[in-house]
Amino acid sequence: MNVISTVSTDILSRLDTLATVSESHDGLTRRYLTTQHRDANDLVGEWMNAAGMAVHQDAVGNIIGRYEGLEDGAPALIIGSHLDTVVMAGKYDGMLGVVTAISCVHSLNERGIRMPFAIEVVGFADEEGIRFQSTYLGSRAIAGTFNQELLNAEDAEGISMADAMRAFGLDPARISDAARDPKDIVGYLEIHIEQGPVLENEEQSVGVVTAIAGATRQTVTVEGVAGHAGTVPMGYRQDALLAASECALAVEDVATRRKNVVGTVGRMNVAPGAANVVPGHVTFTIDLRADEDAKRGDALEELGRCLDEIATKRGVEITARTVHEASSVSCAPWIVSQIERAVEAQVGRVVRLPSGAGHDAAAMSDLTDVGMIFVRCGGGVSHNPDETITEADAAAGAHLLLHVIENFKTET
Ligand code: HGY
Ligand code: MN
Ligand code: MN
Repeated sequence: MNVISTVSTDILSRLDTLATVSESHDGLTRRYLTTQHRDANDLVGEWMNAAGMAVHQDAVGNIIGRYEGLEDGAPALIIGSHLDTVVMAGKYDGMLGVVTAISCVHSLNERGIRMPFAIEVVGFADEEGIRFQSTYLGSRAIAGTFNQELLNAEDAEGISMADAMRAFGLDPARISDAARDPKDIVGYLEIHIEQGPVLENEEQSVGVVTAIAGATRQTVTVEGVAGHAGTVPMGYRQDALLAASECALAVEDVATRRKNVVGTVGRMNVAPGAANVVPGHVTFTIDLRADEDAKRGDALEELGRCLDEIATKRGVEITARTVHEASSVSCAPWIVSQIERAVEAQVGRVVRLPSGAGHDAAAMSDLTDVGMIFVRCGGGVSHNPDETITEADAAAGAHLLLHVIENFKTET
């Protein structure tokens, strides 16, 4: 059986196993610094070890396997993706990249192949930012760009990130130990499901990522006045939920009127949350993305004006706080061309596409040059339990990544 077909069988069965490591019984949810984060690190660490890697967990909770090159201590090609998930997630977003990379190193190790560089496979601890509302925590720590102020961020239970780290066995004062020296890195690769419909429409199993969209994430607070649902006349209300609803429609309108700009209100909490009380306090999230940073800035400016007008009109106070900001990132041409050559050799036609989704590669681009491979996923569905990938596409992705690794020329 050729090396890749064994590799892909492992990949899908391992992803099924990893998907059982969940905080909830109905669906996959695995957030940063939870018991399930530790269990996933332990399981993936075992797979890394079995593939011939030396394994450790770093100061921010990433799990890292190192496969030495021809000479010990050589600079490393980092290949990673994230092990955390959104709520009610699919099995492949993030995890596919980690498990595929492990399978490729396993194949090298089986054949006794050593490269002129080391390979480090990283399972990032938090990319989605679901628990503390700020993303790329694991990759930013490695890139040396972790924002220490986030240690005070609290989760829905009021637990600070610092306390959650201590409970996990990490020392918040040591996060900077996770930062890597750029001279110890030759580049970064990430293989990830596309999470969109392009490869399916192009009838291609794999694609080459050209750029990653920039993103802004805000938490918005609307302070109105709670009141009796039966006695406060409509004209006297300062209804926080209706104001927030109008804001959500403004997000949709501002984004819809701009090409390649998307805006989402993904979470909204209403207080006090009783059927017979006019809502007095609402918090919600805004996620705004664009292929160009200037477009995102322009959209955010207009949206800010809309929120001010809604606040004045409805007699409420609206405060938007930016909790995450990531510029759009271009993949390095010298890495993109190597991926393109591998795709040409493997499937003939090359599909190039930008990523609307954020990825750890965006954060890692502050440390080193990055390249990404996309693998087709069913219907482009993601952030959804119905996320699917075929065994053939998992094999095509693994084959391609292995080809890129074995032919990787570090930038001269
Ligand atoms: O939201 C994103 O783009 C990614 O899945 N974190
Ligand atoms: Mn995701
Ligand atoms: Mn992802």
